Amino acid sequence: MAGMLGTIEETLRVLRETMDDHRRSLAGESPPPVPAVPAAAPRRPAPRWLAEVGAELERAAGVQMSETIAQKLERVFAGSDDMTVDEWLRRVRRPGSLHPDLQLLIESLTTHETYFFRDLAQLKHLRSAILPRLIEDAKASGRRRIRLWSAGCSTGEEAYSLAVVALLALHEAGEGLIAQGRARPVPGWMVEVLGTDISGRALDIATAGVYGTGALSSFREAPPELLAYFPETADGKSRQVHDDLREIVRFKRFNLIETPLPIADCDVVACRNVLIYLTADSVRRVQAGLHHALRPGGCLLLGPTDSLAEPFRFDSHWIGSGIVHSRRPAA
Ligand SMILES: C[S@@+](CC[C@H](N)C(=O)[O-])C[C@H]1O[C@@H](n2cnc3c(N)ncnc32)[C@H](O)[C@@H]1O
Repeated sequence: MAGMLGTIEETLRVLRETMDDHRRSLAGESPPPVPAVPAAAPRRPAPRWLAEVGAELERAAGVQMSETIAQKLERVFAGSDDMTVDEWLRRVRRPGSLHPDLQLLIESLTTHETYFFRDLAQLKHLRSAILPRLIEDAKASGRRRIRLWSAGCSTGEEAYSLAVVALLALHEAGEGLIAQGRARPVPGWMVEVLGTDISGRALDIATAGVYGTGALSSFREAPPELLAYFPETADGKSRQVHDDLREIVRFKRFNLIETPLPIADCDVVACRNVLIYLTADSVRRVQAGLHHALRPGGCLLLGPTDSLAEPFRFDSHWIGSGIVHSRRPAA
């Protein structure tokens, strides 16, 4: 294995550095100094190993090769040749769960950027129009439960935001109580939120539920009146997720291109700013899963640049700032 990727330890070091850069940016810290960029060299034709690694990334996680990903891979695999990368691929390729080295590579290639109450206009529409209808449906069927899935939740901010919005909507529908600025369901009602991601490291942060504060932090767009769900820590440097949310939000590692799905009968599925990293084929497969996880009438929230691969399965509505998609009852 000598010479391969400058040894696998070297690869892992580069991957860890990339993840550390990301964690620093999440914590609002300054990045380490960027080394001077050498004058641009004429671009060499892409080596065979790059195509092979790209195919493996697509097979394992649906990831679409892009110029940025190719550049990151060239950095990780610097000094390797086709044969040594073949050997690495043979080692990490396996059916079922991802090999830890492949998992680490995927984690370092995808972006984990997220923040609380991202796309506030969409969440406001969820609170004022979509959830009231779904809560009425639940009441009519005697279900008294609202279930939401944040698919590709990264470090958890989206899942916790959905939980807050659902609690508020339930209160506004006359099915909640307010205590210390936080809405809770009346007895007999349940709100359940599942956050899933392919990245175990991102999910560790999500589960810990402690986030830095400051101008560039995850709270940068959080409405001040909702911060009661995220009290400050004793040292005043962070905010932590209140137990009211911890009780209803759980996290699970899940690769969106896999089956079986981790959840069913959802009222709302959010898969925002995830599909942009996937190939068209993978998007189709993933959306079929998201559709399957929704109850008829349930709502799919996508990112601003995402579109539906199979629009006939949904009723889509323009809400001024974007589109929401409801699963057609018979589709
Ligand atoms: C930019 S973040 C989006 C976070 C959040 N949904 C939001 O909009 O703020 C994209 C996330 O998608 C996850 N992801 C990418 N490919 C995935 C896959 N095949 N299965 C599950 N998660 C995936 C990444 O790990 C990353 O955390």
